[in-house]
Amino acid sequence: MLTETQVIALLQPVKDPFIHKTLKETNGIDEVKIKESSGHVSAKIRIAKMNTPEQMQLQQEVVNKLKRAGAESVGLRFDQLSEEVLNQFQSKEEEKPTLLNGKMKTKFLAIASGKGGVGKSTVTVNMAVALARLGKKVGIIDADIYGFSVPDMMGITHRPKLRGNRIIPVEAHGVQLMSMGFFVENNEPVVWRGPRLGKMLKSFFVEVEWDELDYLLLDLPPGTGDMALAVHNTIPESKELIVTTPHPTAAFVATRAGRMAINTNHQIVGIVENMSYFQSEVTGEKEYVFGRGGGQTLADDLGAPLIGQIPLGQPNDDSNDRGSIYPADHPIGKTYEAMARHVLEHE
Ligand SMILES: Nc1ncnc2c1ncn2[C@@H]1O[C@H](COP(=O)(O)OP(=O)(O)OP(=O)(O)O)[C@@H](O)[C@H]1O
Ligand SMILES: [Mg+2]
Repeated sequence: MLTETQVIALLQPVKDPFIHKTLKETNGIDEVKIKESSGHVSAKIRIAKMNTPEQMQLQQEVVNKLKRAGAESVGLRFDQLSEEVLNQFQSKEEEKPTLLNGKMKTKFLAIASGKGGVGKSTVTVNMAVALARLGKKVGIIDADIYGFSVPDMMGITHRPKLRGNRIIPVEAHGVQLMSMGFFVENNEPVVWRGPRLGKMLKSFFVEVEWDELDYLLLDLPPGTGDMALAVHNTIPESKELIVTTPHPTAAFVATRAGRMAINTNHQIVGIVENMSYFQSEVTGEKEYVFGRGGGQTLADDLGAPLIGQIPLGQPNDDSNDRGSIYPADHPIGKTYEAMARHVLEHE
């Protein structure tokens, strides 16, 4: 015949299936009773989570164990461990806020386009810098993993440093940046596929030592292919800007990118029309070299406001600088500032 002490000794090394601590450590054995006449053992056990397949498994394990030790029959009841005990055992890693578990204040702003070459990356870096100029802590993830270009556009030539096994993002123009470009030698094409790419992207969120960011901008892969969809699905909740040129066909294609955003629960905060026109410095006349109306058409289609029309123009007309950041006092720099204000007002 089993005694109470023996039953407790048998139960103590059993592990809670969720916090992986023994019942002894969690103080999870609430009550043990033995009915000597019938050999019936009953016990009440507290665990971290109730009514799960893991609980069923634990139940089986305990019943078998007690029967093997001589119990005729076993009755088990389960109850929940108190919050207090749970907090004590919740692993530090789990509690640590990361960009993907929704425990940080950081807001995501993804920049998407229907096709390549419309200025998505240019808009990303200039929006980031404009938000930083307005006093926000801003980071960029160059999530266009095959077509990364942000480091070059921001004039960055050095690589991130490591602190332990954490990556310190590179900072330029007051903005922190992480890009696939940092891990590729000599601008070689990236040949990684699916899962490995997805892992890389996730690590940009959780293994990088970002400052306490207000905004994290994401330069998405162009179009609506697998990669764009994978990135959309990686980010839990995000606002989105859609970039198009004024050409009606470009806007038509961009509608699909907008639909993908909506389907993955990303809210479109605005449409940016890039390369809207060319303005002559001599006469001040505007020439609509890529057509007209694409931004407004897209805005109407997606039910989102057209927040900016950016003309053609280089940031530094008379320098060799490859950077793509428009200065704050440049007319285009001011347009970016106005768009950044719009984003802040629609948080
Ligand atoms: N408003 C503008 N005026 C002049 N040049 C511009 C403008 N916007 C973008 N460009 C230039 O057009 C080219 C394409 O822009 P960008 O790389 O930003 O586009 P993208 O949509 O990110 O392209 P990709 O699909 O290749 O990633 C770049 O050389 C950029 O400097
Ligand atoms: Mg790009």
